[in-house]
Amino acid sequence: MRSLDEFAAGKLAELERSSLRRTLIDTIRVTGIWTLRNGRRLLSFCCNDYLNLTHHPVVKNAAIEALRVYGVGAGASRLVTGNHPLFAELEAALARWKMTEACCVFGSGYLANLGIIPTLVGPRDLVLIDELAHACLWAGARLAHAAVVPFRHADAGHAEVLLAELRRRHQRVLIATDGVFSMDGDIAPLNALAAVAQRHDAWLLSDDAHGLGVVGGGRGSNFVRGTRADVPLQMGTLSKALGAYGGYLCASAAVVDLIRNRARTLIYSTGLPPAIVAAAIAALALIEREPAYAALPLAKATAFARSAWLPEPASPIVPIVLGEAEAALKASQLLEEHGFLVTAIRPPTVPEGSARLRLTFTAQHPDEEIERLADVVRTHIVVPTTTRASAAQ
Ligand SMILES: Cc1ncc(COP(=O)(O)O)c(C=O)c1O
Repeated sequence: MRSLDEFAAGKLAELERSSLRRTLIDTIRVTGIWTLRNGRRLLSFCCNDYLNLTHHPVVKNAAIEALRVYGVGAGASRLVTGNHPLFAELEAALARWKMTEACCVFGSGYLANLGIIPTLVGPRDLVLIDELAHACLWAGARLAHAAVVPFRHADAGHAEVLLAELRRRHQRVLIATDGVFSMDGDIAPLNALAAVAQRHDAWLLSDDAHGLGVVGGGRGSNFVRGTRADVPLQMGTLSKALGAYGGYLCASAAVVDLIRNRARTLIYSTGLPPAIVAAAIAALALIEREPAYAALPLAKATAFARSAWLPEPASPIVPIVLGEAEAALKASQLLEEHGFLVTAIRPPTVPEGSARLRLTFTAQHPDEEIERLADVVRTHIVVPTTTRASAAQ
């Protein structure tokens, strides 16, 4: 229809003018770190495959074997006939690893948050959300039709001030935050948020998509520095350090049972393919067995940050905030000329004026390439002083 195409073309032109138009580029991930793009071999520093398990032979073989036994797709929702026995095995392993009574696996991390939040809160309730929380936490909160109020990034004190004012107006309150923030790499103050939640009878939900497998000895962000934050709703994804696909919620048996009964994205969506679930089981077993391997991405990110004169990271994610979208695109292009793949991250993924390079480090990145990358960043990219190590300390 003409009006429809005109609408789409107008929107695209607007995005183009502000350097915000996105395109899909064919990328072959040849190994856990090397990619082929536009005929060039590039070393990727922007993938969430932190432990390079997407290409691990044990993980791949587990997927192949499950495919042989159970077929390709699950064939139906888990509540109909899609609940192949691998789900129970994975859920038991995740619950054990996260030290909760139970676990429920979803089709993706995004679907998990869209299912969990509206199951727990509704129109008369409140969701307090970190202002930099991932898009799917925001989407879940909006889908719940609850009042959604952001608190300042990683500021438990601000969450408490808001609760002191708003708590009595709402029946139930959920506090939602990333565990490891996806675009900034810092870790939420989960202990402080848990204490605030306790004081105000609120429920704390952490999205640990980027924490599982790489911080807290591989157990995630509520286990960092040897403590165990009291987070009753531990959500995460199987698509990053585990190298597979899918999402999960680890929680009490009662909560998980309720989720299985009410979460629409679980009930009305086909179960994950058996091969993917088998891959996640194998990946989690590797992480449990080899904590030293799980520590490598953060160690590599730390070495890079020191060499590039950037603040010490708390996770394998190192942001270099450059400001305008165009600056981030140019810096990404420059790195590509040096053989590195680092996609520019622009609004609305990050707030206006904070376009950036988001570098991610993985277990198998060679040290000499990390050093070379740091050298290019130090000498060719003009990093605003606010992002430099000295300014941040
Ligand atoms: C913090 C966070 N939560 C959730 C998701 C969504 O997970 P999935 O890719 O499994 O849908 C992502 C992934 O982009 C993420 O970064």
